[in-house]
Amino acid sequence: MTGWLGAVYPWIKSLHIISMVAWMAGLLYLPRLYVYHAMAPVGSDRSATFKVMEGRLLRAIMNPTMVATWFFGLVLAATPGVVDWRTGWIWAKLALVGGLTLFHGLLARWRIAFAADHNTHSTRFFRGVNELPTLALIGIVLLVVVKPF
Ligand code: HEM
Repeated sequence: MTGWLGAVYPWIKSLHIISMVAWMAGLLYLPRLYVYHAMAPVGSDRSATFKVMEGRLLRAIMNPTMVATWFFGLVLAATPGVVDWRTGWIWAKLALVGGLTLFHGLLARWRIAFAADHNTHSTRFFRGVNELPTLALIGIVLLVVVKPF
């Protein structure tokens, strides 16, 4: 690793991991909130509380930490000597991160539906989608640490 980006590499990687943990926390917790929100009667106090929790989680934690994860990840990728673009792991990782970003977008869309009392998905549905970020996380960590290909 060379240049000033090489010199700050451990700091950028730390910031990347910190923001990734906060983003993942939201990606795992928000669909859990939807599991319980989908059981709450429309117009109930419980439903109103979930709306506040979901809005704050998405706006205050998940949106900024997603942007930060992308930003620091791209800085790492632009650091000379960190990524050999002929290897496969980085492309597989980017595909999984693209999936997580898409998932984030779907969660945002479902939040708008809940806020307008227009949710059409079942508790069972949200229980199912809740597993997806866990699988992506396992894949991403194995790819960046083991770099199997
Ligand atoms: C958003 C786009 C992302 C990009 C462009 C990106 C890119 C990178 C790069 C280039 C590295 C350095 C790898 C190395 O030093 O060998 C790295 C490290 C890492 N990334 Fe990402 N990343 C992104 C998102 C994520 C996400 C979403 C996660 C977890 C869910 C994640 C988890 C990690 C971890 C755990 C490390 C540290 C690996 C180590 O200790 O070497 N990254 N990332």
